[in-house]
Amino acid sequence: IEATDINNQGHLLIGGVDSVTLANDYGTPLIAYDVSEIRQQIQHFKKIFDRAKVKHQISYASKAFATVAMYQLVKQEHIHCDVVSGGEMYTALKAGFPMDKISFHGNNKSRAELEFALEHKVGCIIVDNFHEIDLLQDLTRASQQPVNIMLRVTPGISAHTHEYVMTGQEDSKFGFDIKSGQAQEAMKKVLAAPFLNPIGIHCHIGSQIFSIDGFVLAAQKMMDLVLKWKKDFAFDVPIVNLGGGFGIQYTDDERPLQPEVFIQAIIDEMKSIAAKNEIDLPEIWIEPGRSIVGTAGVSLYTVGSHKNIPGVRNYVAVDGGMGDNIRPALYQAKYESVVANKMNEPANVTVSIAGKYCESGDMLAWNQKLPATQPGDLIALLDTGAYGYSMASNYNRNPRPAVVFCENGKSQLVVKRESLADITALDLSLNES
Ligand code: LLP
Repeated sequence: IEATDINNQGHLLIGGVDSVTLANDYGTPLIAYDVSEIRQQIQHFKKIFDRAKVKHQISYASKAFATVAMYQLVKQEHIHCDVVSGGEMYTALKAGFPMDKISFHGNNKSRAELEFALEHKVGCIIVDNFHEIDLLQDLTRASQQPVNIMLRVTPGISAHTHEYVMTGQEDSKFGFDIKSGQAQEAMKKVLAAPFLNPIGIHCHIGSQIFSIDGFVLAAQKMMDLVLKWKKDFAFDVPIVNLGGGFGIQYTDDERPLQPEVFIQAIIDEMKSIAAKNEIDLPEIWIEPGRSIVGTAGVSLYTVGSHKNIPGVRNYVAVDGGMGDNIRPALYQAKYESVVANKMNEPANVTVSIAGKYCESGDMLAWNQKLPATQPGDLIALLDTGAYGYSMASNYNRNPRPAVVFCENGKSQLVVKRESLADITALDLSLNES
């Protein structure tokens, strides 16, 4: 959402819908998505690969935002999804998402989750560790049903927002370590397992990444493995999956690279290694989450109390907070905000936006330049579409917000607001005796 989408009443528009109307119709806190922005992001990723004429797949990392309507939207755009739990898998199933386009991730998948995945024939299981290989061997031997798998490896690279670091000995709970030979041993096991069908290798180097270096290095490490396994096992790795992590812009002073810059760098590197070694270029998969939904979402809050500490700080409190967006409290994440019903008024006061939760750390944004606000005004926190609702909680027994999809001037409720009855729905009374 651009803070420049304004109607003639000076109200912020989301997918062509007046944000004040949204707040009146659905209440606040409310998470509103501009659906066409999500579609455009997906199509943009697809176009980059299509233009390069490279076999590819885009798998939306649904942990960023996973609801029935979201899986349905992804289905409409004809890409894959990855899931990381039985719960995400179940939601995708409920949404009618094609299970053969699902990749199942996780460092400690339970037997029940794996059974569920096999029963519903998910497209691919991203195998993370030896325990999982054993479980899958057991389960597939019993059912005599083969399953496609990718091995997740840790290439010893970890990318942070503005840099990447090579960690000689990768210290990560995820995946098979390459350096110590774990990845090699895992592949050997998989190739010997009658019902495990290896279709590729996977790595993921981090999230909110701003430089191409980590991806280029990861591509090199993965191609090293491809070449090694061709030599050692006479096995051609069909797919290299480089995970997600493409950074987005949250604040004015951040300058993320466009997805095409990342992807072109990956393609160029892999192509040149493939050509030099006279092998076919493996199919390239990516798993963007944040970069598909992040900038398409806005959180709308109603302003309540104010506290001005002269010479210190101006607090404006809103009706949501860490329960609907824990990122500022958890990661010191930064957002920009606007007053959605006063878009044309001069932004001449500096305020910090506080949540309503009983914790001092429950702040949504610091030092925002906004027009003066009164109780009842509508604050929009921008670019909250990724890891906001998906990490929401009932802390302090606050109901989780509603979610709406907006497109072409129309809105549709896609997640109901939790009710007070929902809050106690799972509670049981104490036995009286
Ligand atoms: N693939 C794998 C294996 C992942 O672990 C992740 C994210 C992704 C893809 C998608 O990454 P993305 O494109 O969204 O950066 N809660 C944190 C982010 C955690 C990301 C975890 N893994 C946050 O709010 O910033």
